[in-house]
This record gives sequence, C-alpha cells and structure tokens, in this order.
Amino acid sequence: MTSVFSICIVLGTMCVSLLSAEAEISVPGQVGSTAVLPCELQPVGTETPHIRWRIKSEDVFERVGEDTYRAEGYKGRVDVPEEELLKGNCSLVLQNLTLTDAGVYTSYQIVRRSKRSVKTKREEISRVKLSVQGLHCAEAEIFVSGQVGSPAVLPCELQPVGTKTPYIRWRIESEVVFERLGEESYQAEGYEGRVDVPEEELRKGNCSLVLQNLTLTDAGVYTSYQIVRRSKRSASVMTTTEEISHVKLSVQGK
Ligand SMILES: *[C@@H]1O[C@H](CO)[C@@H](O)[C@H](O)[C@H]1NC(C)=O
Ligand SMILES: *[C@@H]1O[C@H](CO)[C@@H](O)[C@H](O)[C@H]1NC(C)=O
Ligand SMILES: *[C@@H]1O[C@H](CO)[C@@H](O)[C@H](O)[C@H]1NC(C)=O
Ligand SMILES: *[C@@H]1O[C@H](CO)[C@@H](O)[C@H](O)[C@H]1NC(C)=O
Repeated sequence: MTSVFSICIVLGTMCVSLLSAEAEISVPGQVGSTAVLPCELQPVGTETPHIRWRIKSEDVFERVGEDTYRAEGYKGRVDVPEEELLKGNCSLVLQNLTLTDAGVYTSYQIVRRSKRSVKTKREEISRVKLSVQGLHCAEAEIFVSGQVGSPAVLPCELQPVGTKTPYIRWRIESEVVFERLGEESYQAEGYEGRVDVPEEELRKGNCSLVLQNLTLTDAGVYTSYQIVRRSKRSASVMTTTEEISHVKLSVQGK
C-alpha cells in the first residue's frame, strides 16, 4: 500500500490519469427511468468548464456555460446542469431511458493546450457503462403452465422505442426458437408450424410467444430479446441484444 502510494506521488499526474482512464463505472437503469452517469472535474482555475459526453465516437452532449449541444435522439432528455458543472460536477443526467441508450459513455473536458494558446485538447474524465433493462427485468421470472396438446402464451412486452419494425428473438437455453423482423420469421426445428409472435401483435409492442400443441419436451426457461441498433444516428450494423422477459414453462401430461 505504502509503495503504491509513493509510486503515485513520484509519477504524479501520470498515475492519476492512468487510474481514471481505466476506471469504468457501471450504471444500471430501467426503461423510462433516469440515470446519472458520474463525472467529477479536477479543480481547474476560474475558466468556464467545457464538458463533452460521447458514446463511441458520437457526441451526445456538450456544455460551455449556457451554450449546449444535444444530439438527435437525446433532445430534451439529457443534461449536465449548469449550476452543477460550476461546482465541478459534470455528471450526465439522462432521462426516459430507452433500450438503445445502453452503451459506454465517456466524458471529456476540453482545455486549452497552453495558457496562451487558442488550440484545445480533450481530456478524458470518466467512462461509464450504462445498461438498460426492460420493465420485466431478468430476475422477474414468469411462470406459465400448460397441458400436452394445448397452446401456451409466453408473455413479453416491448417498451415504446420508436422502432417501427421491432426485431424480436425467443430462445430456450442457448437455442433460438423463434425470430421475427417484420414479415420475416424463423421457426426452429421441432417448433415448425407451432410457434409464432403474430406480426400485428408485435407492431403493437406485444412480443408474446404463442406455442401450440405443447409437448412434454417443450418445458423449460424461455427468454425473449429485442435486437436493436447500437447507434441512433449512423446506419451502423452493430446491434445489441436486450433481454425482455424470462418465462418458465411447465407442461403437464394428460
Ligand atoms: C419523458 O417521459 C414522460 C413520461 O413518460 C413524458 O411525459 C415526457 O414527454 C418524456 N420526455 C421526453 C423528452 O421524452
Ligand atoms: C452531481 O449532479 C447530479 C445530477 O445533476 C446529481 O444527481 C448528483 O447528486 C451530483 N453529485 C454531487 C456530488 O453533488
Ligand atoms: C396440433 O395438434 C392437432 C391435433 O393433435 C393436429 O391436428 C395438428 O396438426 C397439430 N399441429 C401442429 C402444427 O403440429
Ligand atoms: C399478446 O399476444 C398474445 C398472443 O398473440 C395474446 O394472447 C395476448 O392477449 C396479447 N396481449 C395483449 C395485452 O394484447
């Protein structure tokens, strides 16, 4: 402990910046709620702080004094309150969380290269991993039981996320059972003709799985996922898979 401490003293600021660059903070949130992504400025003289938050290489929010920038998709939902920033608190407040908000956010302070220079540089302050859970969180397991030969409905509800064509996937353990994106759907072997998330229901945000003609081997834990694009602005093909519901199906013989 003492030696680490003295190394830090010797290396000074280098040690501090090494530590801060690696410290990734995890913040969980629920769809619709508000998340605060922590950030704290080091004391920096009297100049008005210039702060920027990014996700990947996209700017999300920026503030210099009263001037702000909010990216498309974050308008009206995101802020670093000016009075907090003046106190050195550069935490990002993100309201009305959606599944697509999940990701790694990085805060930067924009500072002048030297006291007299007009050139600026960007210094990383904090790195925060935001995860967003649907309203039925992973632990909330729903129990559904059915009789051999009868149908079962495994519940699932999408939060409004502004996607016209949701992409939904159901799995049992690690095996994909069903997938739907618009009119396109996939039914796994053994489930052909028996399994569906009706398209008209899905458009209303109802991603419940209908499983017909139950067999004893259908019993198990089913999980529903929504597949969303990583970034709102780019036509990125990077996607993220968000769990929606967890349903335990038991099947009774006749
Ligand atoms: C946030 O959610 C509330 C309640 O759901 C809604 O009234 C408000 O318009 C939303 N704000 C934004 C910016 O999405
Ligand atoms: C920093 O600001 C955030 C959001 O404005 C607030 O929730 C938090 O309590 C503040 N932290 C401190 C230490 O003041
Ligand atoms: C479901 O069961 C009924 C009656 O046993 C049968 O007629 C029907 O073909 C089955 N459907 C499927 C998709 O297996
Ligand atoms: C959701 O869809 C399932 C199957 O399509 C249906 O049985 C159920 O009533 C629907 N739920 C709601 C809330 O509409």
